[in-house]
Amino acid sequence: MDWLVPLSDIDFGAEEEEAVQQVVKSRWLTMGAVTREFEEEFAAYIGARHAIAVTNATAALHLACVAAGLGPGDEAVLPSLTFVATANAVRYTGAVPVFADIEGENSLNISVQEIEDCITPRTRAILVMHYGGYACDMPAILALAERHGLMVIEDAAHALGSELNGRMLGTWGTVGCFSFFSNKNMTTGEGGMLVTNDDRLADRLRLLRSHGMTSLTWDRHKGHAWSYDVVDLGYNYRIDEIRSALGRVQLRKLAHNNRLRREKTALYRHLLEEQCPETLVPFDNHPGVSACHLMPILLPDDASREEFMRSMKERGIQTSIHYPPVHLFSAYRGVPLPVPQSLAFTEIMAAREVSLPLYPALSEASIRLVVEAVQSSLVRIGRVAPL
Ligand SMILES: Cc1ncc(COP(=O)(O)O)c(C=O)c1O
Repeated sequence: MDWLVPLSDIDFGAEEEEAVQQVVKSRWLTMGAVTREFEEEFAAYIGARHAIAVTNATAALHLACVAAGLGPGDEAVLPSLTFVATANAVRYTGAVPVFADIEGENSLNISVQEIEDCITPRTRAILVMHYGGYACDMPAILALAERHGLMVIEDAAHALGSELNGRMLGTWGTVGCFSFFSNKNMTTGEGGMLVTNDDRLADRLRLLRSHGMTSLTWDRHKGHAWSYDVVDLGYNYRIDEIRSALGRVQLRKLAHNNRLRREKTALYRHLLEEQCPETLVPFDNHPGVSACHLMPILLPDDASREEFMRSMKERGIQTSIHYPPVHLFSAYRGVPLPVPQSLAFTEIMAAREVSLPLYPALSEASIRLVVEAVQSSLVRIGRVAPL
């Protein structure tokens, strides 16, 4: 479908094309020097000692869970209002995901109090997800984790370039996981990155990324090694040079593009407040600097979201939902819930949430068009009296 205003758009141009061509001309396509440069530049940008590039954020989350020592008999606490990959990563290890509720209407992030209520003697880790790029309450979560001796893994897929108290998200926990999927703030098509300040953990993550092998094809090509041992049960979660080359260019654009996202978000907030006061825009006055990955709104609680989205579609505006709660998916119905939990806020807010178009090149005229469409769609579904 040709949308008048699509949900997201990438910022690709001649620089990305040139970067890919250079890799193709170099005749070295698998993980090598370009990936190393990408990792070094990413680590410097994020402010972490180590950055380890992988094939996608799902792989990053899986490796983080393995490195956290999660396994059968263990539990990890995480939000249900996230992309399914956050929870799947826990399940790949044989551990049980225990879902904690979100904070409420103004913050769709996991609640610290709810995390605490989910902790049992079997809990090993807390996984947080910074919804839309807005920071979870990391000081409180780290303090809680320390009290209970738990590892904190950050799913920072939405939070590339977000900060809290001057510190980048993804560097608060023991390990942070980023995604470079096509709709993310920077993209390599598919791709991901792990960051950590822990040297031993970084060594383990690097090993696990590539079959647990002590040397790589690149090292042998360079003459640094001729054989290898396999010292761990690893995976093939490597990235390739083409995607790393794209990542290097995209990383250079990230700060500027995030600034543009913040400006668009501010305009949306202003116009929605003025023209659609019956909708609620979460994360009002949120602390920190958000990467503004998403533009979520909450519809009035008795509005039909399906009708609203259909009306937006008829006006050429693409919208989406973030997310259907994980615990309601068929594949999660059999997952035992170790502690009695109420996921009331998760279920209520997830049912009211609609994401509006947001990307760096989104024009002011398009934002005005989207807000007018929100207003007329609310009238159409009978939520607002026509003017
Ligand atoms: C919150 C969240 N976690 C994890 C992922 C998984 O990322 P990837 O597609 O790179 O595996 C995504 C991607 O959509 C995401 O939004």
